[in-house]
Amino acid sequence: MQKITIAIDGHSSTGKSTIARQLAKALDYIYVDSGAMYRAVTLYALRNGMFENDTLQGEKLIAALPEITLRFGKNDSQGKADMYLNGENVEKSIRTLEVSGKVSIVAAIAEVRKKLVEQQREMGRDKGVVMDGRDIGTVVFPDADLKLFITASAETRAQRRYKELIDRGDQVSFDEVLENVRKRDHLDSTRKESPLIRAEDAIAIDNSHMTIEEQFAAIMDRARACISEKQESGS
Ligand code: DC
Repeated sequence: MQKITIAIDGHSSTGKSTIARQLAKALDYIYVDSGAMYRAVTLYALRNGMFENDTLQGEKLIAALPEITLRFGKNDSQGKADMYLNGENVEKSIRTLEVSGKVSIVAAIAEVRKKLVEQQREMGRDKGVVMDGRDIGTVVFPDADLKLFITASAETRAQRRYKELIDRGDQVSFDEVLENVRKRDHLDSTRKESPLIRAEDAIAIDNSHMTIEEQFAAIMDRARACISEKQESGS
């Protein structure tokens, strides 16, 4: 069976990771959550006192990049891999609102992106990969076989993220989460380095009013069609 590369981009909390995980499971592909890598670098910067409020000592972080090792390690109970920062499982620590509030600042640094993009390309070298993020279809895999661009209204997304945080016991307000979603949208879309934009050949899907099942069925059809096409053309 021909393997393809699937790139999923879109704003935060659009459910990209749910789709990516479902696709990877159904196709028996590797799922790579590229956002987890940017989050882990952010956690490193926070832990090493490189932030003063929203000001990051970028030069210090750039100098420390060779000391930052990232890898994904299997987590059988979650059906996805956990993020490891310098050998430590940081999967929970990278999902806090504190990290979410700072990650766009770290993700705007060219040197950080260069390091992570290299690692992401390496993970996708043998195809059979579903990767989600902001620049997967535009920068990491511009030749991806299937590109999806997922959108939903800011309110819908904040509601989803708010529920996730409350369910895991975090004390947050809806307004705080909505503000974070809007702030990240702005930073991610306007940054100079690899801003979040839809690749011309990406299929846009607005899932504000779609159930997860409807969305999965529609996307799986696309993936199957893409795989058959490749099979027939033998490419
Ligand atoms: O997908 P996420 O919300 O976990 O991503 C966290 C942040 O990382 C997001 O605000 C933007 C950044 N990011 C990026 O710039 N490029 C990627 N490929 C993935 C994430």
